[in-house]
Amino acid sequence: VISEAADELSVDAYVIGGFVRDHILERGEPKDIDIVAIGSGIELAKKVSEKLPHKPKVQVFKNFGTAMLRSGDMEIEFVGARKESYRKDSRKPIVEDGSLEDDQNRRDFTINALALKLNENGFGDLLDPFNGYEDLKNRIIRTPLDPDITYSDDPLRMYRAIRFATQLNFMIEAESLKAIKRNKDRIKIISKERILDELNKIMLSDKPSKGFALLYKTGLLKKILPELTALQGIDEVEGQKHKDNFWHTLEVVDNISENTSDLWLRWAALLHDIGKAPTKKFHKKIGWTFHGHEFVGAKMVFKLFKRLRLPLNEKMKFVQKMVLMSSRPIAIADDSVTDSAVRRLIFDAGDHIEDLMTLCEADITTKNPKRYRKYHN
Ligand code: CTP
Repeated sequence: VISEAADELSVDAYVIGGFVRDHILERGEPKDIDIVAIGSGIELAKKVSEKLPHKPKVQVFKNFGTAMLRSGDMEIEFVGARKESYRKDSRKPIVEDGSLEDDQNRRDFTINALALKLNENGFGDLLDPFNGYEDLKNRIIRTPLDPDITYSDDPLRMYRAIRFATQLNFMIEAESLKAIKRNKDRIKIISKERILDELNKIMLSDKPSKGFALLYKTGLLKKILPELTALQGIDEVEGQKHKDNFWHTLEVVDNISENTSDLWLRWAALLHDIGKAPTKKFHKKIGWTFHGHEFVGAKMVFKLFKRLRLPLNEKMKFVQKMVLMSSRPIAIADDSVTDSAVRRLIFDAGDHIEDLMTLCEADITTKNPKRYRKYHN
């Protein structure tokens, strides 16, 4: 239908971006399709709607020169090919009409700049000026332009690079990774809500630790979750060391992710030890302790959620509760807690008992597999 509509209007039209990428990667059913018209995207959207049996409503965003319509579960977005330039203090570009090539130039990654022609003449031709197809095959995230320009223009792309690397299990090209380190301070112009969207997508991938490790190595994690990076490092006093609670946390998050796709349980896993940095002490007699870290951690969850604009609702309370309780069963597994503590734990956990057990099992498994087996039996 889009092809016919474009031919009737005598405009060239292309499907571009995520749809093409996911189609080549065979990543299941698409949810949205981005169409670029070499001309008016709004006119093309209207024509497409006329031709569809259910004549869907066309939502026009005049200021952006875009239009959107729904067909079944799919959102189809139409835009006229454009050229973008950026100012230092905003990720909102100055937009002018442009060619397909200009439109591909403005895209974040080579794998997101692939376009397929839709007009009858040339239907299905792949327009790939930056070798995005090769990058898809070689599993590489690379920017079409100089990465310093791409990331500085729209710093959210630093998060997007890490999110795609995590979701698709791709590698970020070395120059790009260096550019992210250089441009990390630019993230300050991005709203917390946008960053959180990306964090949640990382969190919901198969192996979130990959994304968090990249965020850590590039310095982006310290900007958004300093409570977490504070867990990194091993101290030694009088020959006694404690474990690195940051890398341990990432292991717990991966273990949890094998057992649950629940976003909030995964958040609980990520935050379950955050009280450990501020409570860390060394006692001559007992060695390293993190006494009271669960309580301190639960308070930190509240502040952190507020700062990230995460909803302060039931989900937050759930995460807080998990953080508060997560260390107790571990103590049980260490044989240092009595039966009454087990009863108390079950009582406190209420409806969340299954989730709590999943979280604890993930923690105990990484800490001490032998003890875990004993406890589990
Ligand atoms: N895009 C971009 N820079 C951004 C956001 C988006 O260049 N900061 C471009 C990319 O070409 C991207 C397309 O706009 O493919 C659509 O963006 P979006 O819908 O956010 O991402 P998808 O690639 O479709 O992937 P997903 O749906 O998984 O987010």
